[in-house]
Amino acid sequence: MIDITQYLQGIYEDLQSYVDNDVCLCKFKELNFEAGAIPDYTDINIQQLYLLRYAFAYAFEYSRMYLDVLSQIDDTNHISVTSVGCGSMIDYWSLIHALEMKSKMDCSIRYVGIDIIDWNYKIPQRQNDEVHYLIGNAADIFTNNSQFISDVYFFPKSISEFSDSELNAMANSFSSKKIQKNRFFVCISLREDQGSMDRDMQKTKCLIEAISKNGFYTKWPYNRYAYYDCNDGIVSLDNDFQYPQGALQFVTNLNMECVNYKIQEMNCQSDCQKYLSRWPILRVKHIRYQVIMFERMS
Ligand SMILES: C[S@@+](CC[C@H](N)C(=O)[O-])C[C@H]1O[C@@H](n2cnc3c(N)ncnc32)[C@H](O)[C@@H]1O
Repeated sequence: MIDITQYLQGIYEDLQSYVDNDVCLCKFKELNFEAGAIPDYTDINIQQLYLLRYAFAYAFEYSRMYLDVLSQIDDTNHISVTSVGCGSMIDYWSLIHALEMKSKMDCSIRYVGIDIIDWNYKIPQRQNDEVHYLIGNAADIFTNNSQFISDVYFFPKSISEFSDSELNAMANSFSSKKIQKNRFFVCISLREDQGSMDRDMQKTKCLIEAISKNGFYTKWPYNRYAYYDCNDGIVSLDNDFQYPQGALQFVTNLNMECVNYKIQEMNCQSDCQKYLSRWPILRVKHIRYQVIMFERMS
């Protein structure tokens, strides 16, 4: 499997080629999540900068979530996952990484990623895995499915982006359709700040209530979450996470790559430096997640 350093290096080289064409970089200021903003993920350059800023930390976070799942399942020869709002399938990479950490590389994966956008930079499929990428609104896909067959339903930093009506449609499906497994997991990666996290966990509550109506229980309270009580660098916890140096320099000085900066040694606006020199997430203090196990009530 591609390592995270190579993955980011390839994206960095592509974004570097784009800015080498002397372009104005103001559009990258839109890549922020302030006040509930959602970036334009349809733009390949926004995808590139998004991945350079966040994929490193998210890949680590999701691998810890999958390690939690793997420690609670009996059959580690096969695992089936539905990833809702999967983007470039970083969580598929994380699952493979978690299996490698547990020396379970021969566990085969059935991975169904759902996203409304057809992302670039999808994680390449491992031999012997079954991977499907469904492009569409997850609410419609849930509404049209006939039953739930996965071991894991994973929401990789996506739950916040579903409207209440989309979430209700998914919850209705979970409450009314056949769930094949006697035990399955809903994994939710949450946003960090308290207000956003509280809003995300209201959606968790809605999903737990829906699944409980369908004859399953969980011991996980909707407002419990896992986090790190330290601010260690990710690399100190997992040596496979080496952020490529050239990419780091590039991302943290992006404002200087703007054509207007190159000509006038000044950015277009006073906020360019603030928004265009943001560091990628390299530490664990932002991590918040839920790994919720459901079991069929006997
Ligand atoms: C913050 S991004 C996370 C992407 C990826 N999971 C990651 O970890 O980088 C949220 C994703 O949810 C997707 N999304 C938002 N609403 C959706 C919907 N109704 N149906 C399917 N995907 C949706 C977006 O297109 C986007 O790719």
